[in-house]
Amino acid sequence: MKYLHYIITLALALTVGIAKAGEGMWIPMLLQYNEKEMQEMGMRITADDIYSINHSSLKDAIVLFGGGCTGELVSDQGLLLTNHHCGYDYIQKHSSVEHDYLTNGFWAMNRGEELPCPGLSVIFLREMRDVTAQVLEGISIDMPEDERQAKIDENMKKIIAELEKETTYKVSIKPYFLGNEYYVLFNETYTDVRLVGCPPSNIGKFGGDTDNWVWPRHTGDFSVFRVYADKDGHPAAYHKDNVPYKPAKHLEISLKGAEEGDFAFVFGYPARTNEYLPAVAVDQEANVIDPVMVDLRGKVLDIYNRYQEQDPKVRIQYASKHAGIGNGWKKWMGVTEGINHFHGVEKKQAYEKGFYNWAMQSRSRYMYVNLLRDFERNYQELKPYQLAYTYVAEAGLRIELVSFASRFARLAEVDKDTPQDKVDQMVANLKTSVASFFKDYYEPIDRDVAKMLLGEYLKAQPADFRPAFLNDIKDVDEYVEKLFDKTMFTDEAKVTALLDNFKAKDAKKLANDPAMKVYQSLIGFYRDEVYDHISSINKDNDRLRRIYMKGQMEMQPDKRLFPDANFTLRVTYGKVEGFKPQDGKTFRHFTTLEGIMEKENPDIYDYVVEPRLKELYNKKDYGRYADKDGSMHVAFTASVHTTGGNSGSPILNADGQLLGLNFDRCWEGTMSDLIYDPDICRNISVDIRYVLFIIDKFAGASHLIEEMTIVE
Ligand code: ARG
Ligand code: GLU
Repeated sequence: MKYLHYIITLALALTVGIAKAGEGMWIPMLLQYNEKEMQEMGMRITADDIYSINHSSLKDAIVLFGGGCTGELVSDQGLLLTNHHCGYDYIQKHSSVEHDYLTNGFWAMNRGEELPCPGLSVIFLREMRDVTAQVLEGISIDMPEDERQAKIDENMKKIIAELEKETTYKVSIKPYFLGNEYYVLFNETYTDVRLVGCPPSNIGKFGGDTDNWVWPRHTGDFSVFRVYADKDGHPAAYHKDNVPYKPAKHLEISLKGAEEGDFAFVFGYPARTNEYLPAVAVDQEANVIDPVMVDLRGKVLDIYNRYQEQDPKVRIQYASKHAGIGNGWKKWMGVTEGINHFHGVEKKQAYEKGFYNWAMQSRSRYMYVNLLRDFERNYQELKPYQLAYTYVAEAGLRIELVSFASRFARLAEVDKDTPQDKVDQMVANLKTSVASFFKDYYEPIDRDVAKMLLGEYLKAQPADFRPAFLNDIKDVDEYVEKLFDKTMFTDEAKVTALLDNFKAKDAKKLANDPAMKVYQSLIGFYRDEVYDHISSINKDNDRLRRIYMKGQMEMQPDKRLFPDANFTLRVTYGKVEGFKPQDGKTFRHFTTLEGIMEKENPDIYDYVVEPRLKELYNKKDYGRYADKDGSMHVAFTASVHTTGGNSGSPILNADGQLLGLNFDRCWEGTMSDLIYDPDICRNISVDIRYVLFIIDKFAGASHLIEEMTIVE
């Protein structure tokens, strides 16, 4: 059935014309159906060169890095590239005051200097297969959901058990097209991965949060690792005798750069998209929930900024929190802006009218007729609960005092019958987190944040949609002052003393602390009044979405639909190109080192330029990494469909050679997780020539360049 779908699709795609350039996250094993279009757009290799299980292919060079990013192998000795922001945690773990690799960068000048990274792993996809028919065996469309899921689970278990007999790889099955198709993945995980090098933060994070999601961009967002294996090339836990892993394929690197209009593709692990949501859901996300999150986070960030500007210590303490909160804040602003600018909701509504009319045309389509009405009802019902959840998370738990108190909730329930070893374990875990909490905690910020957030909470949510403690507050400021004065959780000495000498009777002290009471009130409200509603409505929405997806596939056999991202390997392709975000405003597709010098400002943390970089710039010492226009290209945009998880993914040219590393999108087009518009959705990559220039000329780590396969 499905193959038929693709074949008809293919036949019609050729007559109907080329799909919107850029849109789509394609399954590598089915890339033969995209091959013709890719070649028409300029690709000179074949689908088989990208994904094959019969011979080595580009897929052998791609990994899921650290569970959340993508990485790629660039030498036959396990050398791997990913983003700086993907390697950040591991760089930070190796950093100390004496060895501040975050600030100064790090370069292993030989294999012995490479740093093991406990906890870091990379996963290779060895093979995938379609198992839709087996997984859906015995399933009918109007089966009750629980029965359906039980049957699917049973089928999957059987398939996995069977396949595990023939392989040593890890076997797992994932749903695609919202549960209309299933593919089995054979994965291999390597756990000895070592840090080889990274630029200083003012290259790897240049522009910081100020430039995050923004074009023009000048971030050298890369870091270098190496994958190690046992002497037979198999995965092995860290051991000094392990040897560099030799992949079946590593990427060639092009020094030619890319021109406007050139074909390009990204190969990596996009995490999550929702391209087939009904209009009502898109509207709710873009115009109800996201604006609340943006508003609350914006107000929190204003308070952080005010304090961070006054005190360099506070600036560092709140840098990472600021980055985390700010990343979503800026992205969701772009989603709302983009959906409305693009009339995304109206376009979906018009499409849904067409779907309804199509469904009404035949009796055999009866199961599609009421879908949109049911969505409408479910999302109306969901809205107040979704908002209630948003306030619990973004207004309640955002108060650091409250989220810190929550860590003690289990300890607060201890009584004399709790086994001592359990208590000891809890206490030990908490002790390690206490010091790190207080290291980055500045109480005046949190007091201001709490006053602001609780005030907003009271203003926005009706009494029956907020936790009980809020309903007793007369004056928010007074309440917050008292709360912070009375709680022990703002006092490191008190908390430490309590943990150092913890007795079962101390649990009462924890339970009665006013901040713990706030937490209990919040979470109790969520548990008793919100959670069940959200999960039962969403369970029904999942069913509706699956059936709606099936209907859409049936309605448009001539349109090549792609499954939403689900953290599995995908190929996405488009062109290297700039864009026009607004009338009268045009962006060129690349930036250069000149732009770094333009942005330079020694007083603004995000825009400090490394003296050594300036020296190279002044001498124009770019070597073979210069563009043919003579300048040093730093970053470029393309109309390739990407999302979170694609960070670190290779962006490749028509010959499958590395052009750069994907690391972000332009905020104007972040709606691409919901609706893709080829006019304004752009991904951002760091130019591989800038990466090599930094490794070679800036850091003097030319031994790494020698390992790579460079095509001039
Ligand atoms: N926006 C990118 C992403 O979603 C980069 C985030 C890290 N960089 C930063 N400046 N916070 O992951
Ligand atoms: N920075 C994102 C990541 O870490 C990629 C940007 C995006 O969402 O496209 O995966």
